[in-house]
Amino acid sequence: MDRTRILILGGTSEARRLATELAARENLDILLSLAGRTEAPAEQPVPVRIGGFGGAQGLADFLMAGRYDLLIDATHPFAERISANAAAAAERSGITAIALVRPEWVPVPGDHWHIVPDIPSAIASLGPTPRRVFLATGRQGAPHAEVAPQHSYLLRSVDPVDPPLALADVEYILDRGPFALEGELDLLRKHSIEAIITKNSGGSAAYAKIEAARVLGIKVVVIARAPAAAMMTVETVEAALEAIDHLISEAMKRGV
Ligand SMILES: NC(=O)c1ccc[n+]([C@@H]2O[C@H](COP(=O)([O-])OP(=O)(O)OC[C@H]3O[C@@H](n4cnc5c(N)ncnc54)[C@H](OP(=O)(O)O)[C@@H]3O)[C@@H](O)[C@H]2O)c1
Repeated sequence: MDRTRILILGGTSEARRLATELAARENLDILLSLAGRTEAPAEQPVPVRIGGFGGAQGLADFLMAGRYDLLIDATHPFAERISANAAAAAERSGITAIALVRPEWVPVPGDHWHIVPDIPSAIASLGPTPRRVFLATGRQGAPHAEVAPQHSYLLRSVDPVDPPLALADVEYILDRGPFALEGELDLLRKHSIEAIITKNSGGSAAYAKIEAARVLGIKVVVIARAPAAAMMTVETVEAALEAIDHLISEAMKRGV
């Protein structure tokens, strides 16, 4: 059988871990795709391409031209457009696709969650009274905060918010996870944070702020995920490896 060609749509720690595991195997050609959003992306264990494909058809064309056997969508649970494109491209090209989607966080006793569908609803839910808010949703949706300038914002992102927000009271922190509980407790205390806005990203790297909010009794406005794109889905890197091994052994049996 020829080498198996796998395209991983990445931009997450899971994608990097999966690529690391697959890089160690024989008879696989792996390419990892990044959107190119971050200025200094983390180093990757496999060859990387950067930039959009030009929609679902562009991705389908890329898969077919590159004779890929398998597409793994290991993008962030809130990267909804690329995941929808991946599902459509898999269908159009007839190439098998697997989504690797980390499980959602669920509230536990002691959490004060307010669940909303999107960032504008999260901002609106803060109400008219000025509050000290930790906006932990990254820089892409941050301009939505401009409709509620009465609050003080602490905004954390990997890359700078450019242009800066049109807000009188905003402080920026540049940082990249994983974050630990002690550091998150210090941050929340230092800035006297009264509310946190976060996506329900899932995973461990960004969970410490949820734990810290529980310890300090702080309200967390949680942006819910949209329904996932229709695709075979696994929740862990280990399950993805199992599914990939299974697909490859099935293909070998068929002599493909
Ligand atoms: N959204 C988040 O909260 C978040 C958090 C952490 C990391 N990320 C990572 O950041 C990247 C962009 O996220 P997003 O929310 O901006 O995506 P998105 O809104 O779903 O995608 C917008 C467009 O960016 C391109 N794109 C996205 N991911 C790509 C990839 N891995 N390789 C090549 N092109 C890609 C596609 O362009 P074309 O249509 O031209 O192909 C896509 O239509 C993803 O890799 C994601 O895993 C996102």
